[in-house]
Amino acid sequence: MEIIIQPDPEAAAKKAAHIFAQTIRSNPKAVLGLATGSTPLPLYRELVAAKLDWSAITTFNLDEYTGIGPGHPQSYHSFMREHLFQHVNIDPARIHIPDGLTLDTEASCRQYEEKIRNAGGIDLQLLGIGSDGHIGFNEPTSSLASRTRIKTLTERTRRDNARFFGSAQEVPLHVITMGIGTILDTRRVLLLASGEGKADAIAGAVEGPITAMNPASALQLHERAVFCLDEAAASKLQRIDYYKWVYNNKPTWQQ
Ligand code: F6R
Repeated sequence: MEIIIQPDPEAAAKKAAHIFAQTIRSNPKAVLGLATGSTPLPLYRELVAAKLDWSAITTFNLDEYTGIGPGHPQSYHSFMREHLFQHVNIDPARIHIPDGLTLDTEASCRQYEEKIRNAGGIDLQLLGIGSDGHIGFNEPTSSLASRTRIKTLTERTRRDNARFFGSAQEVPLHVITMGIGTILDTRRVLLLASGEGKADAIAGAVEGPITAMNPASALQLHERAVFCLDEAAASKLQRIDYYKWVYNNKPTWQQ
């Protein structure tokens, strides 16, 4: 795992945006895994400002609420349109987001996995993290081998997301999410986290045991996982000085 610690959320997002921009520039046909939520907003702003060529980029979003359509203002379809897709020259045919209105969830999830495989797999996957350690919407006790499927949100996540809907009761109970196995299959993972509310989840993910109780801890098994953190999200890491030391003393070719 590579741990990058930056002074504030904007600086962490800038670093993450730099990694995404580099990937897009070096591989104009890259397959990107994308996330929603508050954390990636400054990253998407940076990517829009970078004026990159998205015409041959393919994207797969991690998750979507069920029971709300792409036109619903709180759907992740709307989120992605508003914060990224309408500002860049991406081909709509190359955008993939789970279908929250499907009448055959199992078939739709299977097809989502197939589409990822047919696209050649995901080159770089963006992740946020829930205060309980969830990645995508893989809540604690999710199978570490899980694939795209329907999940039930915990009360805690519904409370955390109430700010988007007005109240926790209005947050859909069910979601479709890539599984932890799906995420582990990606070639590179970039987890972005900011704020004190994420500090326990980050400490568990990086320094705790690999456990379904903290789904992000499964990333310890990923060959190329980068955690881009602000000081507050990193504040409960026991080896924080070590991670800074490693980052500041990389071999020149790696910097
Ligand atoms: C969203 C997603 C979730 C969020 C997580 C953190 O697509 O996959 O795992 O990344 O809930 O959300 P924020 O960034 O709003 O704290």
